[in-house]
Amino acid sequence: MRLPAARGPISDQLFSRLTGPPGKVGPLDPGPLPLGDDDLQLALFACYELHYQGFEEVDERWEWEPSLLRARAGLERGFEDALALAVPRPAPVDPQHVRRALTALAVGAEGPPLSQFLQRTADLGQFREFAVHRSIYHLKEADPHTWAIPRLHGRAKAALVEIQADEYGGGRRERMHSELFRTTLRGLGLDDSYGAHLGRVPGITLAISNAMSLFGLHRRLRGALAGHLAALEMTSSLPNRRYATGLRRLGGEAAATRFYEEHVQADAVHEQIAANDLCGGLAAAHPSLTGDILYGAACALTLERLWAGHVMDCWERGVSSLAELESAVASP
Ligand SMILES: [Fe+2]
Repeated sequence: MRLPAARGPISDQLFSRLTGPPGKVGPLDPGPLPLGDDDLQLALFACYELHYQGFEEVDERWEWEPSLLRARAGLERGFEDALALAVPRPAPVDPQHVRRALTALAVGAEGPPLSQFLQRTADLGQFREFAVHRSIYHLKEADPHTWAIPRLHGRAKAALVEIQADEYGGGRRERMHSELFRTTLRGLGLDDSYGAHLGRVPGITLAISNAMSLFGLHRRLRGALAGHLAALEMTSSLPNRRYATGLRRLGGEAAATRFYEEHVQADAVHEQIAANDLCGGLAAAHPSLTGDILYGAACALTLERLWAGHVMDCWERGVSSLAELESAVASP
């Protein structure tokens, strides 16, 4: 993957440094910015990507450059502050009731009817747009939650490993969820290479992935990461059934719809493991993490709702929900 175009002064300053040899980076303190700010989210995404597959033109030694990590911490403060404003912390519960509280959050999270629209009404161009947004996460599906494995122990660790083993296809490449989604992209006539669409998605789409990386890369946020995964799994089966129906309606072949069909079945099982064993086990072992577990779930649900609202709002106005590349900010 190559670095995309900068979207403002923060990403511009960052990218101009990353393309050179590792060395001192000045502060990237963004100040108060909206949650979906393109510039903040793209810069943060690029910082995190150094811990995943990286960028072709960025020296791998940047990953642990202390001044870059310090600058990233400034971006993370901006992101965490914006998240805190958008996502009220759920009321605390007793650790033994964490499953029930997660269910209440998931049930109460009904957002804009994007999955129904994709099932019944969307045209092929809109389905392609949807897949472009989703490619940011699905092409690295499961990776951000894997960061938590060495941070957990006992029942919670075993539960997470069980879920992740499925996500990675049980050791069979062609069954890895990221590979299934590449097939979906090809079926839609879209580029299936890792990060191919990074430069096309708006900040709110990047915020979805950045929240997972933020929670995954900080041990202090492992409770939020567990809750985040549980919320994804608990709200996944029905929308995925609708996506599969919608793609079939638009002429999608069996191979292209398989990613969605796989999630109808898998996530009904994962939901139980994530809520009962991962989150329930973690809360039982570390009662002080219960609030974080619920907060992570609330963050996942809120970001999904804001993103779906953005997409539906654009489509209702007859415009693309993808980023306006023309407005991408070049070097000042
Ligand atoms: Fe998956």
